[in-house]
Amino acid sequence: EKGGYDHFMLKEIYEQPRSVRDCLRGRIYPQQGKVQLGGVKEYVEKLKNVDRIIIVACGTSWHAGLVGEYLIEEYARVPVEVEYASEFRYRNPIITEKDLVIAISQSGETADTMAAIELAKEKGATIFGICNVVGASIPRLSHAGVYTHAGPEIGVASTKAFTAQVTALTLMAFYIAQQRGTITESKLIEYLTELNEIPTLIEKTLKTNDHVQIIADKFKDSTNCLFLGRGSSFPVALEGALKLKEISYIHAEGYPAAEMKHGPIALIDEDMPVVFIATKNSSYEKVISNIQEVRARGGHVIAIVSEGDTVVRDMADYVIEIPQTSEAFVPLLATIPLQLLSYHIAVMRGCNVDQPRNLAKSVTVE
Ligand code: M6R
Repeated sequence: EKGGYDHFMLKEIYEQPRSVRDCLRGRIYPQQGKVQLGGVKEYVEKLKNVDRIIIVACGTSWHAGLVGEYLIEEYARVPVEVEYASEFRYRNPIITEKDLVIAISQSGETADTMAAIELAKEKGATIFGICNVVGASIPRLSHAGVYTHAGPEIGVASTKAFTAQVTALTLMAFYIAQQRGTITESKLIEYLTELNEIPTLIEKTLKTNDHVQIIADKFKDSTNCLFLGRGSSFPVALEGALKLKEISYIHAEGYPAAEMKHGPIALIDEDMPVVFIATKNSSYEKVISNIQEVRARGGHVIAIVSEGDTVVRDMADYVIEIPQTSEAFVPLLATIPLQLLSYHIAVMRGCNVDQPRNLAKSVTVE
């Protein structure tokens, strides 16, 4: 049942070329520059006129929501707020019939996310669900939605569900942009052509595995770890940290790289590995100066870089190369080596990777 892999988590990491492809299937038409989302097509008018989107989710799904915020604001130009479902439901939030709430959940059964939906529904908002489990409670509570089609995820640590959620949100961002006319057809052709190749690039990224395993061996005895990224790589940093915490029990934190100097920099010494997402995108130069700040304090740097990068290579202790892509798609690739890193560290530490202590696959109590 594990398909020859030692753990479900590893199997599910390796399934990502397929799961992302399944999420895209029948939804993008690169040559025509068209996105089709059958599950929300009755809400096209709503999407044309919506002036605020609120994303609610928990855990990894919340991280996917943060990536979604960058994408939707960038391409569809609609303001987005991303909320922890557990906070949203208890703080008397301001919601009206004009709002669109997008609830993200792998299981479709998370109690806090369900309660957030119910509250938003009472106030008249339109609810979209982005879920993996077909027919689960959240899709049933939602007015419309998009299934991620990642297939069953058994490992408690979310891997393929996360990349499928990010894929669905990418589709959503382009779909809304297409409806609102905030993106040109030629740009859409360009982006969708690239998006169509992402499964192949994920396959390529998985080839970093052996190298990542070597890096894992160097850092397996760490007690702390920082993950830093900027822009849409900030949520990737959060996700990298969560993966490491939950399966290896190493204390890890994710931050926007620039926030480091507002506190976490005090933690940096020779015993602190810092994982940077330092791909060649708009914040590349800025991230480089953050890497220098860590180096100057003796911290060990592991950097996810774009293929062929030489600048970061000269500064970092270890680099992990991923294929070059547009900024929009970096999270889909940069996440992969971070999943592998936590996986190998957890295995080396003798942890139960598929069923970490104290955790359940779906949190059906608040
Ligand atoms: O099923 P959901 O996506 O609603 O679950 C949300 C979180 O409980 C979940 O993502 C959790 O954080 C995972 N263990 C992360 O790997």
